[in-house]
Amino acid sequence: MKTVLLIGIGAGNPDYVTMQAVKALNEADVFFFLDKGQEKEDLINLRRTICERFIEDKSYRIVEVPGPVRDVEAPDYKSGVQAWHRDKAKIFSDLIGNELADGEVGAFLVWGDPSLYDSTVRVIEHIIAEGLLAFEYKIIPGITSVQALAAEHKIALNPIGEPVHITTGRRLNEGLPDGVDTAVVMLDNGSGLRALIDEDVDIFWGAYLGTPDQVLISGKLKECVEAIEEARSEERKRKGWIMDTYLLRRKPRP
Ligand SMILES: C[S@@+](CC[C@H](N)C(=O)[O-])C[C@H]1O[C@@H](n2cnc3c(N)ncnc32)[C@H](O)[C@@H]1O
Repeated sequence: MKTVLLIGIGAGNPDYVTMQAVKALNEADVFFFLDKGQEKEDLINLRRTICERFIEDKSYRIVEVPGPVRDVEAPDYKSGVQAWHRDKAKIFSDLIGNELADGEVGAFLVWGDPSLYDSTVRVIEHIIAEGLLAFEYKIIPGITSVQALAAEHKIALNPIGEPVHITTGRRLNEGLPDGVDTAVVMLDNGSGLRALIDEDVDIFWGAYLGTPDQVLISGKLKECVEAIEEARSEERKRKGWIMDTYLLRRKPRP
């Protein structure tokens, strides 16, 4: 039987790799890397660094393939994402089918944790449901960008006994659910930053968390939004890509 490991590697700092992940890395015979356009070099380099740093027996193989590109022109967001996942499932099936021998262990190194805004688990479930390939799989959790954000800003996510909403920049523009005053926002192209600008809101913003390029800004949203927008555009120009996450907390309304 083949085994596939989905290993959460943390959101940017090799020190985020857990002891459980180190054990899993040392069990793998083959690592599958999917490149992702502009971010490719930095993200793949971190994966290489992690393999070099934590794996004792250097006889492992790395198979690198181009990742599928999401069609941003798709009629709606969900159908675009579903088509993208189908393309990914085809690539994963080929990798597991052709690059992994019976009895071998293959690993996908998942940014942050596989449970949070990541398609890997769904893609693997889809392949299993199709029934064309037989393999076992395990998930090893990692430190998410949300945890990195809270740690770097030295904050707790939730006020005492209160909920925290995790969402995307696009969905934040639809407003927060009733009774929710704290939101963590991911996958924002910048459009969500001003969604709550007319309210009394604090922001804790972080880009490239856990990496040497990390940038942190915090304060009243109204007062720091311009500095954040400027940092976003400068950093994007400098590096060619940006990954940022932020927490918004509004004063509960009476
Ligand atoms: C596709 S999601 C993957 C999330 C990942 N699975 C996790 O556990 O954090 C990518 C989004 O995560 C956030 N993100 C991931 N790594 C980050 C980092 N090092 N610094 C800031 N945000 C990050 C950004 O909001 C980015 O748009």
